Amino acid sequence: MSKKIASARISEKSSQLLQDLNNSLPFDKVLYGEDIQGSRAHAYMLYEQSIISKEDFEKIEFGLIEILEEVESGVFVLDGDDEDIHMAIEGRLTQKVGDAGKRLHTARSRNDQVALDFRLYVQKNTKVIANLLLENITTFVSVAETHANTMLPGMTHLQHAQPINFGYHLLAYASMFKRDYERFMSSYARNNYSPIGCAALAGTPHPISRQITSDKLGFTAPTLNCLDTVSDRDFALEILFNISTMMMHISRLSEELILWSASEFKWVTLSDRHATGSSIMPQKKNPDIPELLRGKTGRVNGNLVGLLTVMKGLPLAYNKDMQEDKEGVFDSVRTAILSLQVLNEMIAEMTVNADKMELACMIGHLSATDLADYLVKEAGLPFRDAYHITGNVVNLAEEKGLDISELSLTDLQSIDERIGEGVVALLDNRASMNARLSEGGTATVRTLEQVESLKGWLSSQKG
Ligand code: ARG
Repeated sequence: MSKKIASARISEKSSQLLQDLNNSLPFDKVLYGEDIQGSRAHAYMLYEQSIISKEDFEKIEFGLIEILEEVESGVFVLDGDDEDIHMAIEGRLTQKVGDAGKRLHTARSRNDQVALDFRLYVQKNTKVIANLLLENITTFVSVAETHANTMLPGMTHLQHAQPINFGYHLLAYASMFKRDYERFMSSYARNNYSPIGCAALAGTPHPISRQITSDKLGFTAPTLNCLDTVSDRDFALEILFNISTMMMHISRLSEELILWSASEFKWVTLSDRHATGSSIMPQKKNPDIPELLRGKTGRVNGNLVGLLTVMKGLPLAYNKDMQEDKEGVFDSVRTAILSLQVLNEMIAEMTVNADKMELACMIGHLSATDLADYLVKEAGLPFRDAYHITGNVVNLAEEKGLDISELSLTDLQSIDERIGEGVVALLDNRASMNARLSEGGTATVRTLEQVESLKGWLSSQKG
């Protein structure tokens, strides 16, 4: 057996069980691009600092470029018994370029190498997710603009409360996604510091320049403290938390879409491209997509709690427990990307059944608060008295089998004479919605203002 490249003191071949437990190559192979990118920057710095010769640098550089092509074309398959992606690529490089390959690991440890590769992966995918959020916000804003006058019952406790418009409802989600976007971008800025050059935990006696590698890799600057840097997985926890919060928003929307697609509501119809059938009931169209989005929120939360738990008891610096950091992040990132892509398509293609939404506004006396507000403003009543009078009006409407907006002036005045003529028009649901003109309110003009504000924000982000 050939000697393992990173095992100077271990003479026996590892037990198969140790390899099964220990090897991360089966999952960390997705980091091949980041590993090669990091090694190229490191080799360049070693050469710039005269730690390796120009000749060795060029061999390493061309060797690594070839390995990248080999992996991408399937010539070099990452399924050997190397411990991890770092050893697999270093081993391949040494096979190709000999001693120069063995010089690459000068002034570097796998501890700063993995911290770098994983951070590059997280930073790259943070941008991918953030851009998908922008695409979703764009879609939500456009559907919202179309439906800024489409009324539906706004709810609290899942009970009809006050009339709002569907655009306004969608903009609530667009606002959540805007916060999500800002959260991803602030994590990006906070974590954009280069770990490479920290070596095992304490730095290195070689005359390296961490500034050179940091610049070459697009980081803001090198990290401050090497002991922290090789022990830190906050950047991974941040993307997990950011994904969990975003998926919680997607899950709440999914729950609403599932309800709205039910026969009892029929407020929206998901496109046939996003509905599935039943294997036994030929008539069925099921909202599997929002159900899966809601369900996948569970697994991303699991990944967050999983890594928090791995990290909580670890002494500084690197411990092998930390190899458990990756699979959950890869899974959450994959889930987030797919979920955002599907969500965008589903919202763009769903049919909004405006007639059903508006009909639903006739259930539940949605404009009752307007009567109470009228009695306060016009008759000078204390709000609590106005509230009780309105309650009696609602009771009357119930007795008559009508909605409060359908009562005549005579009906209204039979409860309280102070109710004047203008009230009938006020109790109309659309009038009620458009009366909510306060900042951030649901009135159509206010909704359209919110549309404009988000459009302005979107163009400032994309520009
Ligand atoms: N495969 C390891 C990981 O993912 C790389 C770092 C190994 N470092 C070490 N000192 N054993 O964490």
